[in-house]
Amino acid sequence: MAESLRPNEISQDDLSKAEAEQRLEQLAQLIQKYDEAYHTKDAPLVTDADYDRLRRENERLEDLFPDLVRQDSPSQRVGGELAEGFSKISHAVPMLSLDNAFYDKDVEDFIGKVRRFLRYDPLMGALAITAEPKIDGLSLAVRYEKRKLVHAVTRGDGSTGENVTANALTIADIPKELPEGVPEVVEVRGEVYMSHADFTGLNERMVANGGKAFANPRNAAAGSLRQLNSKITESRPLKFFAYAWGEMSEMSADTQMGMVEAFAKWGFVVNPLMKRCESAQDLLAVYHGIEEDRADLGYDIDGVVYKVDRLDLQERLGFVSRSPRWAIAHKFPAERAFTTLNEIEIQVGRTGALTPVAKLEPVTVGGVVVSNATLHNEDYIKGIGQNGEPIRGGKDLRAGDTVIIQRAGDVIPQIVDVDLDKRDEEACAFEFPKVCPACGSHAVREKNPASGRMDAVRRCTGGLICPAQAVEKLKHFVSRNAFDIDGLGEKQVEAFFELSLEEGGVHTPADIFTLRERDKASLVKLRSREGWGAVSARKLFDAIDARRQIDLNRLIFGLGIRHVGEGNAKLLARAYGSWGAFQTAMRAAHEEGSEAFKELNDIDGIGSAVAIALVEFFSEPHNLEVLDKLLSEITPNDFIVADTSGSPVAGKTLVFTGSLERMSRDEAKARAEALGAKVSGSVSKKTDMVIAGPKAGSKLTKAQSLGISVISEDDWFDLTKDL
Ligand code: IVH
Repeated sequence: MAESLRPNEISQDDLSKAEAEQRLEQLAQLIQKYDEAYHTKDAPLVTDADYDRLRRENERLEDLFPDLVRQDSPSQRVGGELAEGFSKISHAVPMLSLDNAFYDKDVEDFIGKVRRFLRYDPLMGALAITAEPKIDGLSLAVRYEKRKLVHAVTRGDGSTGENVTANALTIADIPKELPEGVPEVVEVRGEVYMSHADFTGLNERMVANGGKAFANPRNAAAGSLRQLNSKITESRPLKFFAYAWGEMSEMSADTQMGMVEAFAKWGFVVNPLMKRCESAQDLLAVYHGIEEDRADLGYDIDGVVYKVDRLDLQERLGFVSRSPRWAIAHKFPAERAFTTLNEIEIQVGRTGALTPVAKLEPVTVGGVVVSNATLHNEDYIKGIGQNGEPIRGGKDLRAGDTVIIQRAGDVIPQIVDVDLDKRDEEACAFEFPKVCPACGSHAVREKNPASGRMDAVRRCTGGLICPAQAVEKLKHFVSRNAFDIDGLGEKQVEAFFELSLEEGGVHTPADIFTLRERDKASLVKLRSREGWGAVSARKLFDAIDARRQIDLNRLIFGLGIRHVGEGNAKLLARAYGSWGAFQTAMRAAHEEGSEAFKELNDIDGIGSAVAIALVEFFSEPHNLEVLDKLLSEITPNDFIVADTSGSPVAGKTLVFTGSLERMSRDEAKARAEALGAKVSGSVSKKTDMVIAGPKAGSKLTKAQSLGISVISEDDWFDLTKDL
């Protein structure tokens, strides 16, 4: 070891640039060697202290000579991964998620909905649906061109995933080449997972070598697939079940079952428990059978997935938001565990909501350690539900209580019951604070103007003076669906918020964009902070600069205006098109009865609560000041409407009326909207076209009297068939 260690305190004078360059190369190689020994061979070559010393030396040298940072430097990796991560690949066909069902009855509802959507009457015969285990791993898309594996991509956000090709090539269940006769482009999708036996073995090795054990097989599979060094992945026992597909130049079957059988012929591993059923009863029999055998399968599953078998019907059913209408995941019941409620903490959100959080004695539920659970609001703590009904049999929650925690899939853990026999006699009922714990302002429950009832949520009235609201607003601003600034997560925002502006602090969104400038002016301050070397600072500044150009909907969402979630932000961006038009309208809308307010209220999907929240936001001079500063730093992109240029109904307002025979109302509406049309429920002067089936009544008469063009359902199919 001694030959590789040098004194820690190095200054620029001690070392020429050439020496530093040489040393950095040495360090990159050494650290890489030690990393590999540690992760791949599970056999560390140096003590942790020596290893850390080398890493620190590397960091110091890079701080002194930022332009010498090597691409293969250990500082570019975090815990064995490149900080920059994998390259990104966009999915040719989006990778979507599944809707969930929890009860047996939901399965009948699912079949009912599918039949109604398709107008597939029971008299028309059985509707085949497949059932198969829902594997608890992570999904992966593997693409082949001319039989050769070209890339493998994780799901990511559904549109873009991470390129993990090198790692996928190490998984034995994934063929590297497909047999002759397969379509030219094949994209097989499925689940990467780890078996129970392999998971236990891996954890034993990790712990024996001084590493940390994975919490569950899913985390172990994810951690192993997302390694930048594919040798590490190779040493991890990953498996893969193929169950779906993305882009295919040609289909190899006309049913779900047929496709999966084709995958098996091509060399993929498919799940042997997949069955084809013809009724809800059959599906439930498969579900309960799999549930019974669950513990003996040897790998984790969290439910059963049902899929309409015929692919032509899948196509007609299509998607609603991010899930297909033709499939559903029937989840197994949630797992439960007993623990102690240590205390109730109050957190203040970005709109001032005081949210109580249960601090629990850590407990493992369904393979995950749970130490927090949301308590929603003060009524919930008292045992009162949203509509005044009793929950947990009306039992309240007190610090020290023994409680039952439930965790279902990705759902946040919940306290479902409390054991009163175990309650300490001295335990007092929880007193919900009437003032904000962050700023001391009154915290009040407002009356809901629509229902006339008291709001369940108590809110801090401190507004702009409340530091908790301000910091939460900033966290929201940088979050994934808003500005999505790499390297600026919640922890960093909190740290920046604590500092004065001169120290390189961030108090409002605009401050983020002046960080680089201020850093230049007072170099030392930002970089002398713990964890902020020159390299990490430069990377953050670059990530910030990359967001100076931002989509209008992300900007509107990022402002954190009450009731303006992602969906509403998109509606507003589409309606106004540009930041200029949007802000002019919002500033004008505060005059009561103004044209601008009416216009805002008239946007389809924007309700009065949203409109009022917007007006309030834009009438606050401090908000306008913050916005003006922000807009002097960034350039919002105009909202681009999807290309429906070939569609004869793009931008038109349509009304469907009468009984439709070839499609359901939902299917008609979904299709029309996909073609860029707006579907309305009533006929007015604004209507462009009415599609009328038999038994059409007053809407048809009105359309005729207004001279609006009326077509039949068959005409509609002709008009749109080639699109
Ligand atoms: S089908 C269009 N089948 O569940 C949806 N998904 O909640 C195609 N999953 O992201 C997915 N086992 O990671 C399907 N047998 C199975 C599955 C399965 C596990 C996962 C998959 C997906 C998630 C959706």
